[in-house]
Amino acid sequence: MENPTFFTLTVLVLSLLITSSSAQLRQDFYKNTCPNVESIVRAAVKVKLGQTFVTAPATLRLFFHDCFVRGCDASVLLGSPNAEKDHPDDITLAGDGFDTVIKAKAALDNNPTCRNKVSCADILALATRDVVSMIGGPSYAVELGRLDGKISTIASVQRQLPHSDFSLNQLNSMFALHGLTQTDMIALSGAHSIGFSHCNEFSKRIFNFRSSNGVDPSLNPTYARNLQQQCPKGVDPTIVVNLDPTTPNTFDNTYYKNLQQSKGLLASDQILFTDTRSKSTVNLFAANITAFQEAYVTAITKLGRVGVKTGNQGEIRRDCTSVN
Ligand code: HEM
Ligand SMILES: *[C@@H]1O[C@H](CO)[C@@H](O)[C@H](O)[C@H]1NC(C)=O
Repeated sequence: MENPTFFTLTVLVLSLLITSSSAQLRQDFYKNTCPNVESIVRAAVKVKLGQTFVTAPATLRLFFHDCFVRGCDASVLLGSPNAEKDHPDDITLAGDGFDTVIKAKAALDNNPTCRNKVSCADILALATRDVVSMIGGPSYAVELGRLDGKISTIASVQRQLPHSDFSLNQLNSMFALHGLTQTDMIALSGAHSIGFSHCNEFSKRIFNFRSSNGVDPSLNPTYARNLQQQCPKGVDPTIVVNLDPTTPNTFDNTYYKNLQQSKGLLASDQILFTDTRSKSTVNLFAANITAFQEAYVTAITKLGRVGVKTGNQGEIRRDCTSVN
């Protein structure tokens, strides 16, 4: 080696570049600025969840939609007009998810040490962990240090979020764009163990499917009849149905057991079992809740690293609904 110093520097710079996408996140990021961030957020989330169960699915879905559009930067929280949350894919985000972040932020701001020290993106990441662990799901250490973004537009949501009629290939490629594997995607779909869907997301499967009786053959017939009763054709567009018909208020692996019985509500849920490439993972998560929980923790941690902002790309917002 003619120039060992140059070589060492090159290796150093290259390895920094490779790891930089998540290197700035740390579990103890607020150790000196807001040491009690975890307990303050958890207490606020607990109060909110006690008021309404919707807090849990609403917060979890909000985190997913935030991270897939411009990264985990709380851009989804920014106010109208023409912001992310005005896009059709985000318009069904339940208000209780937004309110959870607002309430936790207010609790932090009530503490002189923590006032305006914690990003809204980190509050959402913590609240997402908390709601899941409070309703039977796994708990895990949350990596922190995300900055809040300064931009939120309707246009940036376009083609960034999965749709309920996606094929396995479409689901896999959209998740792969964010460094998530098929196993990560299947584990994160376990989020549909809680919460609701509007009828229009699956009405084609129970009324207009291209089959002799108009019903998707990958749907359990009894479940299909039950859904037809819950969602009469052309009636109320505000009706919602549980994504998990068996244990809708518990974050467990029943979602995967439902798929084995052809009781996946969305086509994108059922496809995970009908496609032979993903079936074995569904069977594993259905049989072994520990395997599901471990895969979920791995996947949600990876999700939380997507597009994290640093330096002048972001800020710590004083009000989660508007830039400083
Ligand atoms: C795999 C691709 C996915 C598709 C196609 C999908 C699609 C959907 C759809 C259509 C709804 C119903 C929305 C409505 O009608 O109001 C929904 C709800 C929900 N999704 Fe997903 N989703 C996916 C992945 C995820 C992921 C990765 C998470 C979180 C980790 C998640 C969390 C939720 C939750 C918690 C709800 C219930 C929301 C509520 O009750 O307020 N989803 N999803
Ligand atoms: C369930 O999964 C866990 C975690 O992967 C593993 O350690 C355990 O051996 C599995 N249990 C069974 C009964 O296969």
